[in-house]
Amino acid sequence: MKNYFSIQDIDSLSDWVYEAIEMKKNPLLDKTLGQDKTIGLLFFNPSLRTRLSTQKAALNLGMNVIVMNFAGEGWSLEYGDGTVMDQGHSEHVKEAAQVVSQYCDVLAIRAFAKLENREEDYSEKVVKNFIRYATIPVVNMESATGHPLQALTDAITIAEHKKTDKPKVVLSWAPHPKALPQAVANSFVEMMQRMDAHFVITHPVGFELANQITKEVPIDYNQKNAFRDADFIYVKNWSAYHEYGKTLQNDFTWKITEEKMKLTNDAKFMHCLPVRRNVVVDDAVIDSKNSIVIEQANNRTYAAQLVLKKILKNK
Ligand code: CP
Repeated sequence: MKNYFSIQDIDSLSDWVYEAIEMKKNPLLDKTLGQDKTIGLLFFNPSLRTRLSTQKAALNLGMNVIVMNFAGEGWSLEYGDGTVMDQGHSEHVKEAAQVVSQYCDVLAIRAFAKLENREEDYSEKVVKNFIRYATIPVVNMESATGHPLQALTDAITIAEHKKTDKPKVVLSWAPHPKALPQAVANSFVEMMQRMDAHFVITHPVGFELANQITKEVPIDYNQKNAFRDADFIYVKNWSAYHEYGKTLQNDFTWKITEEKMKLTNDAKFMHCLPVRRNVVVDDAVIDSKNSIVIEQANNRTYAAQLVLKKILKNK
């Protein structure tokens, strides 16, 4: 594997999940694999989990880590071919990607959707241009339309906690005061189509994700109905895809409550974090014994470590 851009870069999901769970038992087993190799982490947006877990994963493999807050400290980048750069952008991604490639052996990038122009966001301008011009492997640490490290984490976490071979997994939209990208939801939907699961999406009318992502996945516009007999409730807010980036009406009746969780088959509560307590989910749910959000965040390290291990072994 050269790049980890989306979950389509996973050749055998069951093997990857198994390997990640084994790696978690002895995370320092490959501590010399990345010796004298350097990973560069470029952040165009904030992060807690992705930044620290990817660093931890690289350190477990013996790599050196360079981190740059590109949004606050880097030159403003131009991405267009043939642009006369007489406006705000100081450096072209062509040079930036090639220069960084000389300092590092692996590059990882976080660049969220701007939610202003659907075509531009879904073209994945930032990460795809880094892949185009970098001469080293590139890892997606959440791009405009996908969060494949989170989705791999989620697959590992569900595999660890499932009580049946084919659990019922529900992705539920929940309210949020700000318009958020569709990236986490998109990658989770793609991942659940590859896992052995009864998978249902529930959201208010108007929050349909892209058809090319959801394909044949059933959508239930009645949240309580969708929750019945669920083994996992995965919660995430996203803004509208069709009325792009809009929050439409922010329906606070979609908040995750104890009452709704009682409709499930004693379901585990999952969320990628960060989460707005008592807006997205009640304290009583996220603090309950069925909440596995902290273990889920812990698995970010093993998802990232597995991806880096595969890249290092391929080099
Ligand atoms: N879930 C996730 O990507 O968390 P951060 O935004 O804190 O990295």
